[in-house]
Amino acid sequence: MRMTAAVMYEQGLPMPYVESQPFRIEEVELRSPEEGEVLVEVRGAGLCHSDLSQVAGLRKRKLPVVGGHEGAGIVREIGRGVSGLKPGDHVVMTSVADCGHCPACARKRLVLCESVGMARSQGFLSNGQLRLASLDGQPVYHYSGISSFAQFAITMPSSLIKIDPSIPLDVAAMFGCAVVTGAGSVFNSAKVGPGDYIAVFGLGGVGLNAVMAARIAGASMIIGIDINEGKFGLARELGCTHTFSARDEHLVESVRELTKGGVDFAFEVSGNKTAMTAAYDVTRKGGEVVAVGLGATGAMHDYPHTALVSEEKVIRGSFMGSCIPARDIPLYLRLYQEGKLPVDRLRSGTISFAQLNRNLDLLEHGEVVRQILLPNG
Ligand code: APR
Ligand code: ZN
Ligand code: ZN
Repeated sequence: MRMTAAVMYEQGLPMPYVESQPFRIEEVELRSPEEGEVLVEVRGAGLCHSDLSQVAGLRKRKLPVVGGHEGAGIVREIGRGVSGLKPGDHVVMTSVADCGHCPACARKRLVLCESVGMARSQGFLSNGQLRLASLDGQPVYHYSGISSFAQFAITMPSSLIKIDPSIPLDVAAMFGCAVVTGAGSVFNSAKVGPGDYIAVFGLGGVGLNAVMAARIAGASMIIGIDINEGKFGLARELGCTHTFSARDEHLVESVRELTKGGVDFAFEVSGNKTAMTAAYDVTRKGGEVVAVGLGATGAMHDYPHTALVSEEKVIRGSFMGSCIPARDIPLYLRLYQEGKLPVDRLRSGTISFAQLNRNLDLLEHGEVVRQILLPNG
């Protein structure tokens, strides 16, 4: 079928993106779902900081590619052999999938799945197939097996989580990346518990989910840190007990003093190197630095080795919240429905394809938290 999609042909175009137009809105061809695949009509797709990183070229992708790695929609067609989903089902789309047989999947470490990792770097679906093409038949690649900046998407069933149809799809979209990444970093990676002191560097869509999750987990001090003080109001409403500017030259001493020696867990959720250093420094002896934000591929960081050993600190990577989508997304949706994880507060607005490039600029400047593209209006 022919459909409208946001296609990126080149990475590293200059800002402002409203002028350089990294995403071209055009018609592409989407083939029918084959065995084990599902066709979804996309009803909401979140703009994540990782989309900015791709546009900026910090992590190379196969091009041209249809963007978007979180979303929600309605199943329209299923390929042979798909069980558990049927046309009309409402689903969350997440880039985490489960091949079911690689060593990582065997250990239930789904975010480390080898087929998915391979698909991500090569632009295929995790079954190795390509279902997108230009109108003249040239390959167009999938983005993280999702490509939700399009009217429709072909996706693997393990990337789709069936949801209660009463949940608005423009809110559900955020559960595919922002919620699982932020909340999962707290619940699954760090396992924050009652009374813990935590700090969150970067109060964007992902960081604020970490804040909300830490409140649910019973953290007694939740310190939000951002270069943009405009983020502090919402952060406090969602659970931050304290906020500090990342530009404050006394940041590390202030946090260490407030917490009497440092936090139990410091979450780095901006992908910024300076923030990662500060996160290490505000972590108490025996505490953990949880690295959630992604920077440029190959970026190297320094850490004080003797202190790491003698203070028994832990530096932990947390990718997509170490999530198991079929377990975690229904749980987080329940917390949302109970009002404990008010994810709808993160939705800044909904946008059309025509506003996509301009909204990359707004996200870059911290003027929005999560904008949701409505590819079908
Ligand atoms: N210190 C603290 N905060 C910072 C810093 C810094 N040095 N630099 C930027 N920030 C803040 C921004 O002001 C913004 O509020 O980090 C926040 C990032 O928020 P978003 O742009 O909304 O990013 P988000 O979608 O939440 O993603 C955050 O997680 O998934 C990864 O790759 C993604 O690295 C990205 C991170
Ligand atoms: Zn994301
Ligand atoms: Zn696997």
